Amino acid sequence: MDIAIIGSGYVGLVTGACFADVGHSVICVDNDQRKVKSLQNGIIPLYEPGLEEVVHRNVSANRLRFTTSTAEGVGQSQIVFIAVPTPPQPDGSVDLTYIEKVAREIAEVLKEYRVIVDKSTVPVKTGEKVADTIRRYTKGAVEFDVVSNPEFLREGCAVSDLMNPDRIVIGSNSDRALSLLKKVYEPFMSPIMVTDINSAELIKHAANSFLALKISYINAISAICEASGADVERVADGIGADKRIGRSFLNAGLGYGGSCFPKDVAAFIAISDQLGVPFALLKEVQRINQNQIDRFIKKIKDTLWVLKDKRIAVWGLTFKPDTDDVRNSVAIELVAQLLKDGAIVKAYDPKGAEKVAEFGLCKGAVLAKSALEAVENAEALVLATEWNEFQSIDFVQVRKKMHTPLIFDGRNLFDPETMKELGFIYHGIGRASTR
Ligand code: UGA
Repeated sequence: MDIAIIGSGYVGLVTGACFADVGHSVICVDNDQRKVKSLQNGIIPLYEPGLEEVVHRNVSANRLRFTTSTAEGVGQSQIVFIAVPTPPQPDGSVDLTYIEKVAREIAEVLKEYRVIVDKSTVPVKTGEKVADTIRRYTKGAVEFDVVSNPEFLREGCAVSDLMNPDRIVIGSNSDRALSLLKKVYEPFMSPIMVTDINSAELIKHAANSFLALKISYINAISAICEASGADVERVADGIGADKRIGRSFLNAGLGYGGSCFPKDVAAFIAISDQLGVPFALLKEVQRINQNQIDRFIKKIKDTLWVLKDKRIAVWGLTFKPDTDDVRNSVAIELVAQLLKDGAIVKAYDPKGAEKVAEFGLCKGAVLAKSALEAVENAEALVLATEWNEFQSIDFVQVRKKMHTPLIFDGRNLFDPETMKELGFIYHGIGRASTR
């Protein structure tokens, strides 16, 4: 199939590269000339495991190319995917400016039948608006269909998520569009769920909000565990073993961050408000998420007493492991709060330092080049993001380098008993502290 993807951000680029990898001919369109130039030169603007290889392989095979021209993309493809950002507005609702603009741009160059597929995360009923806009801006009577096809990729494992999806959701009211979309997804051999457009759009917000709710649920339980002396890891195992509940997304920690959950929960609240059916449960999900970091900071303060001039090492700055994405990272918020209280912060992240510098984050903190450098003479170590690298570090060395052997584990990455044996005082989330 000939496919255009408009928007070469994280979703558009991974989708385009993986579509090319299963044999489709893909043109990625982006209006950022610099980004397109670097992509044409083989430079990938983000870190995502496996992505660089897939991009290079398919560019070499002439199945993947990059352009700034929407006319070229739309002209040479049967199907046009929209994968542009849908950022939040101050009130939590979704800013659809980019979607509307792309709809107009497509309309202006539409000459024959095309399927326009929305992959960006959008409020329910956006497909109707996109179709109206295209109809209004096309020159002459050109046939087209609008389809909703939400993505469920997780950063850090986006390539494997795209290649082996749990399900593919296609919201369409046209058999013609549906049969073309099925050809796109045939090589992935995954279950395809066909719905109406509104339901497909809603599935995305409902899925992300439910996952956020699961995280907040276990985080609320973690507070009860701390108050009662129970262990949240054992509780999560116990309830997660029930197939109806499942163990995944029941990892207690500092709370969820990133460019999706905080934005999508806020958007779903705004959407349901606009529809006249307020979703109060999701407001509680947000409150618990914020409370989690507040409780953690309090735990640090309860132990260190005054933070001013305390040397604190922070491991992990990205919003989750295996990505360089620091947008809405709880780790960054944590560093900001420690700095605000006057602590001297030395932070280390395996991949995030470049983006931290690019966005001017953690100003006032020192960025260390290694995990061991960060703990040099530290009075406490805070684990904020659970990179695998931190698990295999020589803790005898860490113990030697630190001024005081104090660990605050914000992701329950380490085993409290092992830490105790190594001579650390250990504080996790929702589990007993050891000394
Ligand atoms: C999320 C969804 O998982 C994807 O299905 C969806 O496609 C994507 O948003 C999106 O809308 O684009 P992502 O934000 O990349 O993916 O990362 P997740 O793995 O879901 O983690 C989100 C946050 O939740 C992270 O901060 C992570 O640390 C936190 N988390 C996750 C927990 O605190 N506990 C858990 O048990 C799981």
